[in-house]
Amino acid sequence: MQPDSDLKDLESLSIQRCQLVDIQGVPLPKDTVDSWDEIWRFQARPDDLVICTYPKAGTTWIQEIVTMIQHQGDSEKCDEVPIERRMPFIELVLPKPFPSDLEEVKKMPSPRSLKFHLPFHLMPPSIWEQNCKVIYVARNAKDNAVSYFHFHRMNMGMPEPGNWDQFVENFIAAKVAWGSWSHHVRGWWEAKDRHPILYLFYEDMKEDLARETRKVAKFLGVELSEAVLKKIVQHTTFENMKSNPNANYSTAPSFVLNHSISPFMRKGTVGDWKDHFTVAQSERLDEVCDRELEGSGLAFRMEL
Ligand code: A3P
Repeated sequence: MQPDSDLKDLESLSIQRCQLVDIQGVPLPKDTVDSWDEIWRFQARPDDLVICTYPKAGTTWIQEIVTMIQHQGDSEKCDEVPIERRMPFIELVLPKPFPSDLEEVKKMPSPRSLKFHLPFHLMPPSIWEQNCKVIYVARNAKDNAVSYFHFHRMNMGMPEPGNWDQFVENFIAAKVAWGSWSHHVRGWWEAKDRHPILYLFYEDMKEDLARETRKVAKFLGVELSEAVLKKIVQHTTFENMKSNPNANYSTAPSFVLNHSISPFMRKGTVGDWKDHFTVAQSERLDEVCDRELEGSGLAFRMEL
C-alpha cells in the first residue's frame, strides 16, 4: 500500500513484539483493539473482494492466485506490487509512525481486494451489507499451528512464542493472536450458506491446484483459457512463489520479518506437523477440535 520510499524511511525504525488484548473473547494485537471502532465501521464497496483466513492457512497463496486471475495470467502485471502492499490488511494497525492500511484503503480505486484474518463474527458489518464476495481458506489445525509457530519466531511484531511446547499449549488454549482455530474455521463454514463465500482448503489446493484455481475463477466470474490456467498454476507453485521476491515477503522491512530465523515461504507442505507434535500434544489438539467441530460437517485432511 505504501510507496517504496516510505518503506525505506521506515528501515531506521524498530518494532516491538505486540501484546494481545481480548475483543469479544478473541485475543488481537493491542494496536488493533485500540482502533477497533474504526475497523468495525470500515466501509466496504459492493465490488470489494475479501480474502480471509486464520493466519498461516495460505493467505499469500490465495492472494497470488487471485491476482493472477485478475490479470489473466500476466505474471509481470501480477507482481508489479509486492504482496505485502498489494491488498490492504484491514485490521493490522501498527504503532505510529507506521502507516495504516485502514487510511490508505479509502483512497484506493475500485475494485479493491482486501485481506482480513478476523473470525466471522468480528467482520465489519458493511462487508455483508454490501454483499461482498469473500474467499476463505482453511488449513488443518496441526500444520496451521506449526506454520504459526515459525511465523511468530521470524515476525518481530508478533507476541514472543516461547518454545514449541509453550506455543502449542497457547494454540490449543486459543491464547494466540486471532484466537481459536476451530471457532474461526467453523464460524466461516457456517456463514458460507448465508453469504457469497467460497470456502477452500489448503490441502485441496496442494492436491490439485488447477482444480481449485478453476473454482476461484468461476466464483469471480472470470473465464480462463486452459493456457492461462496453466500459467497461473505454474506461477503459484510453492517453489516459484518461494523464489519470487514479490510473493515471498523478502521486500518487507527486515526488522519486522527476519527470514534468517525462518523463511516466510517455509515448507509449504501437508503433514509437517508430524515433525513437531508429540503424540500427547496431537491427541489433545484432536480432542479439542473434535469437540469444537462436532456436528459441523467440517473435516480436515492431515496428510495427502
Ligand atoms: P509453512 O509455514 O507451513 O511453509 P499465510 O500466507 O497465510 O501466512 O501462510 C503461509 C503458509 O502458506 C506457509 O506455510 C507458506 O509456506 C505456505 N504457502 C505459501 N505459498 C504457498 C504455495 N504456493 N504452496 C504451498 N504453500 C504455500
